[in-house]
Amino acid sequence: MQLEEMGAFFSARADIYDKKQIENIGGPGLYDAAAGYLPGNTSVLLDLGCGSGLELERVFTRFPNAEVVCIDLSEGLLKLLLDKFPAKKLTVLQADYFEYSYPDCSFDAVISAESLHHYFKEKKLSLYEKIHRSLKPSGRFVNADYIARDEEEVIRTLAEYDQIMRNMGNPPGLYHFDIPLTSETELSLMIKAGFARASMERRFGNSAIFTADK
Ligand SMILES: C[S@@+](CC[C@H](N)C(=O)[O-])C[C@H]1O[C@@H](n2cnc3c(N)ncnc32)[C@H](O)[C@@H]1O
Repeated sequence: MQLEEMGAFFSARADIYDKKQIENIGGPGLYDAAAGYLPGNTSVLLDLGCGSGLELERVFTRFPNAEVVCIDLSEGLLKLLLDKFPAKKLTVLQADYFEYSYPDCSFDAVISAESLHHYFKEKKLSLYEKIHRSLKPSGRFVNADYIARDEEEVIRTLAEYDQIMRNMGNPPGLYHFDIPLTSETELSLMIKAGFARASMERRFGNSAIFTADK
């Protein structure tokens, strides 16, 4: 098995992405609910792995005038996003959210949907620290993402990923593969990153919505 480079994986599927994604996660409920956990005063938002903006459709229903910084690797999905929201205040960056330097204390909230489950916990901790620093003092991180049932699933998945990458000769770069973590690990990473409070709010099939307050 060969893994595809992350941005290219999603761009190659851009024409069917929205329909397939909603089917895969069992309907739009996760997106409706995630927008509901943003703070009531959200006017400046950062979206990590925004894709075509499925979560933003719901965000704009609640906050039509929000300014959103949107980061994603996939050129194809970012094109869909720009077509969907021609009149919204978007800053769209085709970039790796691990590499991008976020301004400190700048966002009312950071949202991410169905994107962070592609990464190891060590990599996520440093990202959660950056998210924490980028939030205003009463800011909130809302992460709606695919999670693992238990540690056994995590260990199995990591071993599979390791084997595939070794077969591919461990190329540098980001490759598409799902590495969901357990809800316990997610919450402990948020607290380790400096958040004062973190909780799992709701489950939607294999996904869950987490909130973490600065
Ligand atoms: C399953 S899609 C989710 C997109 C959108 N948030 C949604 O829920 O429909 C995952 C997205 O994360 C993006 N992504 C993955 N890793 C990324 C990274 N390191 N930096 C920026 N975007 C990333 C992919 O390009 C892809 O668009």
